[in-house]
Amino acid sequence: MKVLVATQKPFAAVAVKGIKEIVEGAGYEFALLEKYEQQSDLVAAVADADALIVRSDKVTAEVVEAAKQLKIVVRAGAGYDNLDLAACSAHGVVAMNTPGQNSNAVAELALALMIFMARTQFTPATGSEIQGKTLGIQAFGNVGRLVGKKAAALGMKVKAIDPFLSAEQIVAGGAEPADSLEALYSECDYVSIHIPATPQTIGSIGYDLVTRMPKGATLINTARKEVIDEAGLAKALEERTDLKYAADVAPDNIAELKEKFGARVFATPKKMGAQTAEANINAGLAAARQIVAFLKDGCTKFQLNK
Ligand code: 3PG
Repeated sequence: MKVLVATQKPFAAVAVKGIKEIVEGAGYEFALLEKYEQQSDLVAAVADADALIVRSDKVTAEVVEAAKQLKIVVRAGAGYDNLDLAACSAHGVVAMNTPGQNSNAVAELALALMIFMARTQFTPATGSEIQGKTLGIQAFGNVGRLVGKKAAALGMKVKAIDPFLSAEQIVAGGAEPADSLEALYSECDYVSIHIPATPQTIGSIGYDLVTRMPKGATLINTARKEVIDEAGLAKALEERTDLKYAADVAPDNIAELKEKFGARVFATPKKMGAQTAEANINAGLAAARQIVAFLKDGCTKFQLNK
């Protein structure tokens, strides 16, 4: 049995070592494809793989089709918009993610972006403090709850909304439930986005929501660039010269945004929310363990395409 780790954006070396140990310790062969440049490299590499570990790598129908021996693919991370689940199901491939394993890294980055923007991108200009401000969390899952806890510890008032949680569950997670998404945007000095990219959410945050934000507000996006309506965001920033936007990772129109809005906009050049040694170890080793548990015992916990 061959377990292939295919990561365009590599795991930390310590995580790769740990994955290798788990795979080989279970008696399987370990293979590594890192920093590949073409999708065709991934397609070629999966030909004889029985199991696959990826990050945001695109496991398309073409990849699944080319992986004739593939039994399981694990996305080492939370968001699985990069996996073609229908293609996996059609070819009898079990698809999993590793929910929660890299959440702390993303939550810390969301907080860091808030402070970075509050302190004028670490320039000498006079900034503001996040203590005493209101933070709105859009989607109160693993990352959102951690952001809320940390923000509360820093003295922020925390509100949240999540279509899959009751008001009681949001209160139990330490936040005040917002009455609606519109209310969340209207009432919060910072909004931190933690929704997945799905057909329902793609392009769902734009002019209407952003312009509801109070004076001087900042929108933080460590989720997916695709959830933003980029033209709507640009229009909002144009009209509301007090608003700011910070994202991991850059929107497609970042050059236009930077040119027009300068330091009111910030984006990481490469998605780095989960790029810590700890997150790589947590997610990468969990993925390896899930593969071993599936191949040895048929364990389908965390299966996405049931
Ligand atoms: C996730 O969905 O887990 C994060 O966005 C991390 O993605 P990455 O593994 O590509 O850094």
